[in-house]
Amino acid sequence: MNEIIVLEKVRKEYHVGEETVNALRGLDLVIKKGSFIAIMGPSGSGKSTLLHLAGILDVPTTGTVSLEGKDIKEYSSKEQAQLRRHKIGFIFQRYNLMPQLTVLENVLLPMVKPDPEKAKAILDKLGLSDKYDRFQGQLSGGEQQRVVIARALANDPAIILADEPTGELDTENTRIIMNILRELNQKEGITIVVVTHNPIAAEYAEKVIKMQDGVIIGENSQN
Ligand SMILES: Nc1ncnc2c1ncn2[C@@H]1O[C@H](COP(=O)(O)OP(=O)(O)OP(=O)(O)O)[C@@H](O)[C@H]1O
Ligand SMILES: [Mg+2]
Repeated sequence: MNEIIVLEKVRKEYHVGEETVNALRGLDLVIKKGSFIAIMGPSGSGKSTLLHLAGILDVPTTGTVSLEGKDIKEYSSKEQAQLRRHKIGFIFQRYNLMPQLTVLENVLLPMVKPDPEKAKAILDKLGLSDKYDRFQGQLSGGEQQRVVIARALANDPAIILADEPTGELDTENTRIIMNILRELNQKEGITIVVVTHNPIAAEYAEKVIKMQDGVIIGENSQN
């Protein structure tokens, strides 16, 4: 099967008091296995909402989200949790590192069977071999973000969903992070979806999807 995530006629409403927010207004999107997609668009256009639905962190108000050919509503909540844990690696700014744990402990934390050798191998691959015992407060922004990527890789995900992974980084570190994601895509075949405001980061994707007002208004293939 060529498609890993498919969204069909997806609407997402949020209710805040009397107000209804239409975050997604009938969105269709096919994410192919092994692809590398960037999603861009103005603040409030629904990018994070889309990523949450793709990661089974939330359900659509109407329409369907399918993962590997099956509507996510057909998975039990236990199966959904398993998918989140084993299939998907999240790089979200709000999932910060645990400040009281070391770098190595942060990567071990999500592992189903904690495996220090594997955690070290992942950290080594990301250029963090001399940082195992540091705490978050003892790392640069770029290093912290690489640890977040290492943690996302802990359970060998098929998909990485990243919400502004370079949001707080300078251009050099943005390129380092995007190169890592490109390698994970090209060498390990991990499907990658990155939300970004940064055109430099978006250059690394093979396709850029533009969102506005809760729908996709265009897409560009590149590279
Ligand atoms: N939990 C929520 N409750 C109510 N409204 C929400 C919630 N989450 C998002 N929204 C609203 O839904 C719309 C889409 O939000 P979303 O976070 O998906 O935008 P975004 O494209 O990621 O924006 P940004 O670039 O600022 O991160 C916005 O109008 C936002 O205010
Ligand atoms: Mg957002």
